[in-house]
Amino acid sequence: MSWQAHYITLFPDMFPGPLGTSLAGRAHEAGIWQCQTHALRDHGLGKHKNVDDTPSGGGAGMVLRADVAAAAIEHVQAQTANLPLLMPSPRGQIFDQAMAQQLAKGPGAIFFCNRFEGVDERVIEAFDVREVSIGDYILSGGEPAALAMSDAIIRLLPGVMGSALSSQEESFANGLLEYPQYTRPNSWQGAEIPEVLVSGDHQKIAQWRAEKSAEITQKRRPDLWAKYLPTKK
Ligand code: ADE
Repeated sequence: MSWQAHYITLFPDMFPGPLGTSLAGRAHEAGIWQCQTHALRDHGLGKHKNVDDTPSGGGAGMVLRADVAAAAIEHVQAQTANLPLLMPSPRGQIFDQAMAQQLAKGPGAIFFCNRFEGVDERVIEAFDVREVSIGDYILSGGEPAALAMSDAIIRLLPGVMGSALSSQEESFANGLLEYPQYTRPNSWQGAEIPEVLVSGDHQKIAQWRAEKSAEITQKRRPDLWAKYLPTKK
């Protein structure tokens, strides 16, 4: 069975977008994952297919209507069995590698892509929507975030990447950043590849890489390093 990606959006043309090329694109062609878009506008009201209204209590911007959002979600849920319902949102839990792995193990996901000032809170409660953020910055909508999350999930699906990378994957899941990589030429503009990497001693190479991973994580991401320490034997 293919991994099912459903996108509820005002901009169906944004999908599969970058996921139609390269690794995800080939996986799409191979049927490893399926991309289905659902136009929120189809559930809009009246002649103009309105989907939003002014915020209750006043304020700037527009809010997606509960009745419109619910109709779109119900429409998708009627054709899918028990897929997790995610809403990209800067308010959400931070998306990370562990979440990508968890979602890749499942049958797929529904991404409800937000616009405007958000969606009526009652919908989030009624459908137990899981809000997920890709970082502490504000995008103009959930679509690029849904694409980013999908990319992280799709590359983990069986058959998408060679098995060679899976151990690296685990190392990031353990919480460390990647060690530096080099390739030929051995000497470039007076800079040499670290000697250990051309030594052929695989044990020493593994040790050097582990040390570099630790060093880089400590320096750049003290938050990850602090989380990593208690799990280290
Ligand atoms: N929508 C707007 N900003 C977002 C973010 N940082 N992450 C996920 N969805 C978003």
